[in-house]
Amino acid sequence: MSIFVNNIISEVDHLPEVLVYGQVTSVVGMMVEAGGVQGSFSIGDHCHILARGARRIACEVVGFRHGRALLMPFGPLDGVSLGCRVEIGATELTINPAEGWLGRVVNAFGEPIDGKGPLSLGRQTYPIHNSPPPAHKRQRVGGKVDLGVRAMNAFLTCCEGQRMGIFAGSGVGKSTLLSMMARHTSAEVSVIGLVGERGREAREFIEDDLGEEGLARSVVVVATSDEPPLVRRQAAYTTLAVAESFRDRGRAVLCLMDSVTRFAMAQREISLSVGEPPATKGYTPSVFAELPRLLERAGPGVEGSGSITGLFTVLVEGDDHNEPVSDAVRGILDGHVVLDRAIAERGRYPAINILRSVSRTMPDCNSEEENVLVARARRLMSTYEDMAELIRLGAYRRGTDTAVDEAIFYHDPLEEFLSQRKDDQTDLLSGYQRLAEILNIQSSDAEI
Ligand SMILES: Nc1ncnc2c1ncn2[C@@H]1O[C@H](COP(=O)(O)OP(=O)(O)OP(=O)(O)O)[C@@H](O)[C@H]1O
Ligand SMILES: [Mg+2]
Repeated sequence: MSIFVNNIISEVDHLPEVLVYGQVTSVVGMMVEAGGVQGSFSIGDHCHILARGARRIACEVVGFRHGRALLMPFGPLDGVSLGCRVEIGATELTINPAEGWLGRVVNAFGEPIDGKGPLSLGRQTYPIHNSPPPAHKRQRVGGKVDLGVRAMNAFLTCCEGQRMGIFAGSGVGKSTLLSMMARHTSAEVSVIGLVGERGREAREFIEDDLGEEGLARSVVVVATSDEPPLVRRQAAYTTLAVAESFRDRGRAVLCLMDSVTRFAMAQREISLSVGEPPATKGYTPSVFAELPRLLERAGPGVEGSGSITGLFTVLVEGDDHNEPVSDAVRGILDGHVVLDRAIAERGRYPAINILRSVSRTMPDCNSEEENVLVARARRLMSTYEDMAELIRLGAYRRGTDTAVDEAIFYHDPLEEFLSQRKDDQTDLLSGYQRLAEILNIQSSDAEI
């Protein structure tokens, strides 16, 4: 059956059985109140305002006040006047991802934006506000995922179904690290959400970082910073819904999102305009309710399905790792990767601060040998870190402490191990081998 016939069948399946009409009773800024709709709406539902000139403006229900529904539009409100009809049809927004979505770039509504023609639609419908599988039915995290980045593979090993955050201040290399993993990973399917980042970066990411080969096994969902907050927030939900569809087909999915902070900011904009009072640092309580709802959707699937391994970037405002969004996200995820501005300034990329980063599932998924190797390398780094200031100042005299001498000896090779060019790939096994080789050189063999 051709894509067109298939898509028409799918669209007809989803036509609403009844249409209910309300009307616009007030507009303040980007917030529209609709009356006469009691009982027809619930939060998160979609509807259309029928504006002048036959314009249909898609809106979402974001709240209720004095018996009226509060709607927020997905675009400009031109042509809307008092009394305009509000059409409520099929309620929540759904998408129908299919295998044919691989290699494609879509917007927050799951519509193609890459100029490669229509998308095939799957028969299974996914609501974008899906719920995570019930906790007691979820499988345990699976085997290791090869992310192609040495520092991650060796020191912050990620398992199938694990969720990790990449935390850093602005311009320290979050997006670059994410793009390295998108390109070099061995995961079967990647679903990449570019949420609220710069438009220029989205194009560069797809064409330069991901490349043809990476794109062929990926679906990219894009909403740039200039789009309305509803669209940006929705792009994050759509990314997870696409990942869920591949998970349900038994695939091990890698879900990458840049960035969760932009999602939180979009939610903040939405809830402030509904009149929700801000709580911490201007963030509203609903931001902290939405974050776990989004992030919990990544993770292992139920028995018989695949998994979603999630890597989410978090912009740490003012390099303060205790700011509210970072703190909330860190508490939800199973590990955090901290990028350090001081390391980036020294020119070592990716600027991962191994000592401050942790993967909570790692000790269980590694072999005993690997754990010993990693623990030794961490110990050496930590000893060096403690003495770093003195060593740089030249105040430490070699021979004073054998442990510090050893840490100094291994410092440069370990730093070299951790730095990796953007286009350079190292798989899991060769990463460990290289680390073992470095640590096998005896410091006593060399002249200290
Ligand atoms: N692996 C790398 N190799 C070389 N340079 C890098 C690497 N990673 C990051 N950089 C440098 O750091 C700059 C900022 O990186 P990037 O855009 O990834 O940061 P970011 O944390 O995503 O920033 P923002 O918070 O603005 O989104 C890049 O333009 C590049 O110069
Ligand atoms: Mg970035």
